[in-house]
Amino acid sequence: MEPELHPDLEPLKFLLGAWEGAGVGGYPTIEDFRFGQEMSFTHIGKPFLIYASRTWMLEEDGSLGRPLATESGYWRPRPDHQVEVMLAHPTGITEIYQGNAAFNRVELQTDVVARTESAKEVTGGTRLYGLIGEDLGWAYDMAAMGQKLQSHLSAQLKRVG
Ligand code: HEM
Repeated sequence: MEPELHPDLEPLKFLLGAWEGAGVGGYPTIEDFRFGQEMSFTHIGKPFLIYASRTWMLEEDGSLGRPLATESGYWRPRPDHQVEVMLAHPTGITEIYQGNAAFNRVELQTDVVARTESAKEVTGGTRLYGLIGEDLGWAYDMAAMGQKLQSHLSAQLKRVG
């Protein structure tokens, strides 16, 4: 049964569905790279979105290479266009973001980054998601490895479902 969208999800509705595309990444401590990405936002009729992302290295010839980062979590709309986002990473990192959603755009900044003992040193981040025409664009800046907050990733995705 297709659940009815919870009315609180209205500001995040533009994210719903499955997305695919490509992006670029880098950081002062690593080589620049290109990546392919699959992303999905689903709901079950309750006031949160279920989020998942997988990525792969994008080779020179356009084929997908080795798997890169994957992440999953929940997006929780709050009153007055506020949003809370919780993300878990298999790299031993969890992030809790606080932000706002308006005009098909979400801006997030980390409230907390928690790490296991073996995780790399990530201390903060900001994310931006927004519609670019019909595409979904997103960008991630991070403070990590002793570096100041700066771009790690950006991508543009097309709706596939
Ligand atoms: C979602 C898509 C992401 C992609 C495609 C990606 C890709 C990469 C790649 C290719 C590297 C170079 C090392 C390697 O080859 O594995 C890397 C390093 C790194 N990434 Fe990401 N990443 C993503 C998300 C994230 C997130 C969300 C975080 C933090 C929560 C993060 C934190 C780091 C850190 C700390 C390094 C290591 C830098 C170093 O060793 O100096 N990445 N990433």
